[in-house]
Amino acid sequence: MNVFHSQSQLTQHLNPLRLLGKSIGFVPTMGAIHLGHLSLLEQALKENQVVVISIFVNPTQFNNSEDLEKYPRTLERDTEQIQRLSDQIIIYAPDVDDIYEGNTVAQRFNYDGLEMEMEGANRPGHFDGVGTIVKKLFEIVKPVRAYFGEKDFQQLLIVRKMVHKNKMDVQVIGCPVFREENGLAMSSRNERLSEAGRQKAAFIYKVLTEAKNRFQHSDLSEVLLFVSTSFANDPYFTLEYFIIADEDSLESATKKEEGKKYRGFIVVHLENVRLIDNIAFN
Ligand code: PAJ
Repeated sequence: MNVFHSQSQLTQHLNPLRLLGKSIGFVPTMGAIHLGHLSLLEQALKENQVVVISIFVNPTQFNNSEDLEKYPRTLERDTEQIQRLSDQIIIYAPDVDDIYEGNTVAQRFNYDGLEMEMEGANRPGHFDGVGTIVKKLFEIVKPVRAYFGEKDFQQLLIVRKMVHKNKMDVQVIGCPVFREENGLAMSSRNERLSEAGRQKAAFIYKVLTEAKNRFQHSDLSEVLLFVSTSFANDPYFTLEYFIIADEDSLESATKKEEGKKYRGFIVVHLENVRLIDNIAFN
């Protein structure tokens, strides 16, 4: 199992493989590895000869220093889980200086408005931090393909936009949301739910799938009302937002238009945990 903590070690290891013509697949993460991350690695293993995962809690994408401090750092456990999947996977787990070289600031990006919607609206600078780290990691790892979860659908589109604007030579692949058996989207935050909370949280996916069904034959306003009342009637949940948006622009839709693809995006709070999910409507 190769675990590298510096760019130079990683580059020394990867350069000869690249010269041999091996394709490199890359999965960027912040660690606290769960089955959702492992599903990305599995796809990368199928499609590439070499697979690299980065584990790095990126300070420039947090707008709250307490969140940054509290983010779980479990490299030993993460390494074990990754090794169980395949001992061929290369782990890059740098420290902040190896990445930012004493200048821990985000570059500014223009994502043509994608950053203004949903998760960008309340977290100023968050997607500049994401763009900064992903660009740096792509420059270090130089992958042919990089894998991102549709769980963070907005992030996936933003990374694609960043790659396009910077003319980077990497294929960005979106992978389906990996769910627990009851439908709850896998997330490191699920650990903070009680056992009862984890079971209750299955309600989110239930409402999303029902919203998808209703979308097929109802007006958008009816679907929006169905979701808001579903959560308003349940004392355990607080709905932060539910938006039906165009899958390409992420602009929230007011009416259905022919030829467009829509998705439902949701954020709900349960037991003080902020849960995020989305579903394709067509
Ligand atoms: P992190 O939250 O660790 O997620 C790493 C990758 O795993 C992301 O692409 C995310 O969408 C994906 N992922 C998480 N849960 C998933 C699930 N249930 N199903 C499928 N994919 C899932 O996202 C980040 O880290 C960071 O912002 C990062 C891109 C690494 C930049 O710092």
